[in-house]
Amino acid sequence: MEKHVDCERILFDTQLLAERIKEVAECINKDYEGKEPLVVCTLKGALIFCSDLIRSLTCPISLDFMKVSSYGNSAVSGELHIRQGLSTNVTDRDVIIVEDIMDSGKTIYFLKSFLLREGAKSVKTVVLLDKPERRRFPLEPDYKCFEIEDEFVIGYGLDYAERYRNLPYVGILKRSIYEKE
Ligand code: PRP
Repeated sequence: MEKHVDCERILFDTQLLAERIKEVAECINKDYEGKEPLVVCTLKGALIFCSDLIRSLTCPISLDFMKVSSYGNSAVSGELHIRQGLSTNVTDRDVIIVEDIMDSGKTIYFLKSFLLREGAKSVKTVVLLDKPERRRFPLEPDYKCFEIEDEFVIGYGLDYAERYRNLPYVGILKRSIYEKE
């Protein structure tokens, strides 16, 4: 596949992503047999991962979206707030949060606490990418597709300054791109 000029190296190509996402979906299918989970896709980064993942889920699902972000800058200590809330009642629902990447863990920690406070029966998390080196909050994803080093990754939903989300693979962004700005 032709890689974008700003991409240093492709980490996971389209085929590998598809294969691994199917495997993870199989695990979710087993765990949620007989249930009807509410899938919460976090915007914007998880959109593409979520749309592929749910097409391999065999249990009936509901789908909703949430957008959270920090006040001011994105420092780990900064408080998160909800920019776009759910339109579904989560009371007594089995919720699956779908995230593109777990970094410090702050977003998922915040979302999980929020959903449990709202009355969810259970909350599990599925992430495309896990960067355990960067973890600052005490939690791990329940399902993950890939573990990665502390690199700047783009594509398949992940952005740098809102660019590259539409690349059909996950790649490493060239240092020269983010160091010049
Ligand atoms: C990114 C990513 C996760 C979060 C992970 O979102 O999509 O939601 O950061 O980081 P954390 O584990 O340290 O919380 P971002 O705020 O960049 O928004 P986006 O999804 O719209 O790109």
